[in-house]
Amino acid sequence: MTITLGVLVSGSGSNLQSIMDHIAQGTLDATIAVVIANNPDALGLQRAQKAGIPTQCVMHQEFPKREDFDIQLVHILQDAGVEWVVLAGFMRILTPVFLAPFAGRVVNIHPALLPACPGIEAQAQQVDYGVRLAGCTVHFVDEKMDHGPIIIQAAVPAYADDDSSRLGARILELEHRIYPQALQWIAEGRIQLQDRQVQVQGVARSTSSRWWTNPPLEAPFDQ
Ligand code: GAR
Repeated sequence: MTITLGVLVSGSGSNLQSIMDHIAQGTLDATIAVVIANNPDALGLQRAQKAGIPTQCVMHQEFPKREDFDIQLVHILQDAGVEWVVLAGFMRILTPVFLAPFAGRVVNIHPALLPACPGIEAQAQQVDYGVRLAGCTVHFVDEKMDHGPIIIQAAVPAYADDDSSRLGARILELEHRIYPQALQWIAEGRIQLQDRQVQVQGVARSTSSRWWTNPPLEAPFDQ
């Protein structure tokens, strides 16, 4: 089934680009009805325009209350016939006013292995903490920040000489894979939600390794 997406961006829009590319390649069964940014300089707007996708810029600063901004977003998304809302680097917390009309149909990507390092500058948080495994998470959105049920996570190694931009680039490469994958599972109707547990029907168990450590285990501990 083809799903109709509305994508919200605040910045570069590289995740939006990956989603558009997968749609163009036929590997993601979706259409993007509208891309909305809360920042007129968001490169994501230009990327969408280049692909012929309708765009809107709604600046949150122009609304007296958070809820008023959210209502405006809901109007635009509903007018465009959006079924699923995709947050792709959208740096605003959405209120229940937004979430109610799209209950269970808002997804987000976060550049950390949630529940570690929620909030802003997750890449820097991971570097500063000295994590050995960093990563990214696609999850359903609920009213708490970076909190909803997890659909897919990807881990990447973090090295002692990483800075946030090097680690961020390594994470972003995986973001561009797991977001289209999660959306395709949604399009195929394979995602079921029970409380916090997300089941992906027909998905294989991870076979790449029984475990994964960073640094790697050495003999005899790797047996
Ligand atoms: C991505 O790394 C995304 O995970 C992050 O913003 C970046 C947007 O990049 N989102 C958050 O931090 C949300 N808490 P993009 O505009 O190139 O897709």
